[in-house]
Parts: sequence; structure tokens; C-alpha cells
Amino acid sequence: MSALPTACVIGAGSSGIAAVKALAAHGYDVTAYEKSDRVGGNWVWGNTNGMSSAYRSLHINTSRERMEYSDFPMPKSYPDFPHHTHIAEYFDNYVDHFGIRDRIRFETGVERVTRRADGVWELGLENGERHTYDALLVANGHHWDARWPEPAFPGSEDFEGVQIHSHDYKGDDPDFFRDKTVVVLGMGNSAMDIAVEASFVAQHTYLAARRGAHVIPKYLFGKPIDQIGGSTKIPFPVRRRVLEGLLKVYLGDMERYGLPKPDHRFGGAHPTVSDDILSRMAHGTITAKPNIASLTRDTVRFADGSEVEADVVVYCTGYKVTFPFFDEGLIAAPDNDLPLFRRTFHPEIPNVFFIGLLQPLGAIMPIAELQSEWVSDFLAGRYALPATGELRADIEAERRRMFKRYVASKRHTMQIDYDDYLVAVAKERKAGAERARAQANRLPVPPRAGAPVAA
Ligand SMILES: Cc1cc2nc3c(=O)[nH]c(=O)nc-3n(C[C@H](O)[C@H](O)[C@H](O)COP(=O)(O)OP(=O)(O)OC[C@H]3O[C@@H](n4cnc5c(N)ncnc54)[C@H](O)[C@@H]3O)c2cc1C
Ligand SMILES: NC(=O)c1ccc[n+]([C@@H]2O[C@H](COP(=O)([O-])OP(=O)(O)OC[C@H]3O[C@@H](n4cnc5c(N)ncnc54)[C@H](OP(=O)(O)O)[C@@H]3O)[C@@H](O)[C@H]2O)c1
Repeated sequence: MSALPTACVIGAGSSGIAAVKALAAHGYDVTAYEKSDRVGGNWVWGNTNGMSSAYRSLHINTSRERMEYSDFPMPKSYPDFPHHTHIAEYFDNYVDHFGIRDRIRFETGVERVTRRADGVWELGLENGERHTYDALLVANGHHWDARWPEPAFPGSEDFEGVQIHSHDYKGDDPDFFRDKTVVVLGMGNSAMDIAVEASFVAQHTYLAARRGAHVIPKYLFGKPIDQIGGSTKIPFPVRRRVLEGLLKVYLGDMERYGLPKPDHRFGGAHPTVSDDILSRMAHGTITAKPNIASLTRDTVRFADGSEVEADVVVYCTGYKVTFPFFDEGLIAAPDNDLPLFRRTFHPEIPNVFFIGLLQPLGAIMPIAELQSEWVSDFLAGRYALPATGELRADIEAERRRMFKRYVASKRHTMQIDYDDYLVAVAKERKAGAERARAQANRLPVPPRAGAPVAA
């Protein structure tokens, strides 16, 4: 068999370590570059890379059994929805279990990535070193670059209280919200957690949002709700109707708690999961408000004309997908949108791959593991992509389906359904294996890094 291409991975969060493990297991010369002094990325509270969005109280909202890698179960002693310390420990143990720590270069940020004329990737590291690789796996995460409201609300520059983004909320100061009037903006999971946390110590908490959400509990029938999704053999509209019915019986209408009526059906937005928000609203400690309209020196005015004096505003307005190391003309995700074949393969550049750059209804980790195995097969000539026209049509069809189903928002540009994705990729890998055999398993990315640049 011919020599395999060399590969590097940017980032050793949960996606990057899955990539290193898969490629190392299949005999690749693989190196990961990691800014931090440890693995785990977002799940390392106070990470030295300054990129973690975790707060002290953070627990996962996808259940343990949904989040664990297929060949490394989380300890049974962990609860169904473990704390971030458990999750960071789990990723750290994964690296030792599979003996891949020496493949990761810690405290070694990637500053610049360029593609030579012959396709080889050149990495410029923050420490001044330069290295070349045949294949590049990007796993730099997509929940670290804070997206503040754009444009900023009128008057925000005059507000004399505190304005922070959820990315900067660490939860390490017990007095941060104490006796304050707090406005939390957003309807995603950061807004739920932070509003609930504030509500226990604040004088009052307001939850402002430009649209409602179907808030879902962590458990239904005593089981983590993400384990109740139903078989992929049942069409999505039927699964949705069943879950809608169950939630209607269990929780009733969102408006009953004071939240706005969602402008979309269940499954039309990334899931907002909280066991506590509705209860805190029912206890009168959180009041729902429409979107912020403007701020003054000491007040926040809302879209319905109401106004409250406020001390703290927390913008839980999501994240930007960015790749600071690429030239924007080469690879970028304007408005968080980077079309990829099954969220993994770039349609034009055959030797760059994206791991974990998706938003599943479910956890990212087993999917990152699957993507990594798939890329490993591709680079070894065991899987071949469909022909260009077919590949582009597939990307377009997938995008059309997604944009039709989801509310238009920068947070809905890479949604997938966990179980359906696993099934679809398994089918595609089978078809691609046949195509690869027909092409005599030729290597799609020739190993030439280190060779002189072609004239
Ligand atoms: C508050 C919060 C809670 C979440 N909860 C869940 C959950 O319950 N379940 C779930 O599935 N997902 C959850 N997510 C989504 C989250 O994105 C994933 O859990 C997970 O962190 C994705 O892993 P990753 O490796 O792709 O990215 P990250 O965890 O962000 O890791 C990226 C790594 O890349 C490194 N890196 C970045 N740039 C460079 C560079 N230039 N050079 C070198 N290294 C670099 C970083 O240092 C970091 O270690 C949550 C997100 C947030 C913000
Ligand atoms: N416990 C947990 O496990 C946990 C906790 C926190 C986060 N997370 C995960 O982390 C990821 C990010 O979550 P997130 O909640 O930080 O972000 P998010 O899911 O992107 O939600 C952002 C929210 O802000 C709103 N928003 C954005 N810009 C706005 C503007 N200019 N004005 C008014 N509203 C605006 C969005 O509304 P629109 O919908 O209208 O765009 C949305 O409600 C998700 O994958 C989430 O599941 C998990």
C-alpha cells in the first residue's frame, strides 16, 4: 500500500481529539496543534486559551449516553447530565486511554494557514515555526467568538450598568447578580441557564427575546428526553407530532408561563432545554419581555414600550463561526454559513475537512468521531466522494431542507438531526466505498508535503 498523506488537526477540543484518535489508529502521521495547555476546549472552565464559554454551574444538556464516544463510555458513576468538570475529565481520560497525548502539541496556536500551489498546507504557528501537511482537519470550535447584537441597541453606549456577553460570564463571582435588576437577552440555552442562575439572587430578572421557544425538559417519562426521539424509520413530521403532543400534555402552552408564543413548530429551532426556567417564571422571579429596543443611562426599554431600571444586561446572543488563521478569500463562514458536503467535506478543496462544525439535535462528540473515521477512510482511498455535480446537488438539497424547516437565524446554518445524520452517513460511506473500489482505491490526496513546491 502507498504511504498515507500526513495530516494535522487544528484544536484538541472534543472534536479534535476524536480526529487524532481515528487518524492515529489508522496509521497516519498526525499532529494536533492546541492553543491551550490541555484538551477539552469549551469544557475546561477558565481554559487558559481564553476561549471557553463555560460558566461555573454548567452541566451538559445532551445526556451522558448521547454524548459519549462509541468506544469510550462515560463512567456509570456520572449522572445523566454531568457537570463540566466531569466532561473535561472524561476528554482528558480519552486521550490517555487511546495513548494519543504525544500527538498533541499544547500551547501551540496556529496563526496562519495557507495552501501552496501544489495543494500542500503550510501552517504558521504562533511560536514562529512553520510546518507542511497534506491534509488539514479543522476542529477549532464554533462557540467561542461572541456575537453581540448587530447593530448595538440604541443607547447601549450610554448605559452605566454592566453589559456582558454570555461568553464572558464565568459565574465565579457570587455577588455578580446579587440584589441587582438583571436583563438577559436570548432564548437559547445560555439565556436559560444564566437567567435561572440570576433569578436566585437578583432583585428581579427579565428574560427578553425577539421570538419564543418550545422549552423542553431534560426528562420525559423518567428518561433523558434526547433518548426518546423515536426511530429514524418514522418520518420526521410524525416524530414531531408525537413529541409536540407529549410536551403539550406535560407542560402546556409556553404563553401560560408568560413566554411569547413560538413563531415556529417544535423542531424548527435549535432545542432550548431547561428544567428550571418555567418553574422560576411560575415563581415570579423571572418575567418575560419582548426584544430590547433601546437603553438609557440606567434603563432598558423593550419593544412593547415597557421600561425597567436595570443594573446588568447579559447578551446571550450566540456565536460567530470564524477561522482567524485562513485568508477570508480561501475559507470563511459569512453569517455562520459554510456549505459543506454532509458538514465534513469542502466542495472545492479536496484536502481540508471540518470536524464538529455542526449543530445537532443531540451531542456533537459521536458525530465528530464518525466524521473522523470517514475522513480517515477518504484519505486512505477506502471511500470516494460522489462526482462534483452530484456532490453540489446534495449540498444544495440539504441546505434547502434545513432552511425550510428552521427559523431564519444565524444560529440555524448547520443544523442536523443526530440519528438521521448517522444513518445517512452510513449509507453514503457504503456507496462511497464502492466508488473507491471502482477507482482502484487510489489516494485522493497524494502524500507530498515536505517535497519541493511544484514549479
Ligand atoms: C455553554 C455551552 C454549553 C454547551 N453544551 C453542550 C452540550 O451539552 N452538548 C453538546 O453536544 N454540545 C454542547 N455545546 C457545544 C460545544 O460546541 C461542544 O460541546 C464542544 O465544545 C465542541 O467541541 P469542539 O472540539 O468542536 O470545540 P471546542 O470545545 O471549542 O474546542 C476547540 C479547540 O480548538 C482550539 N483552537 C481554536 N483555535 C485554535 C488555533 N488557532 N490553534 C490551536 N488551537 C486552536 C481551542 O483552544 C480548543 O481547545 C455547548 C456550547 C456552549 C458554549
Ligand atoms: N447547558 C448547556 O448544555 C448549554 C448552555 C448554553 C449553551 N449551550 C449550547 O451552546 C450553543 C450556543 O447557545 P447560546 O444560547 O449561547 O446561543 P444561540 O443558541 O445561538 O442563541 C442565541 C439567542 O440570541 C438571540 N439573538 C441573537 N441575536 C440577537 C439580537 N440581535 N437581538 C435579539 N436576540 C438575538 C437568538 O434569537 P433568534 O433565534 O431569533 O436568532 C437566540 O435566541 C448552543 O449549541 C447551545 O445548545 C448549551
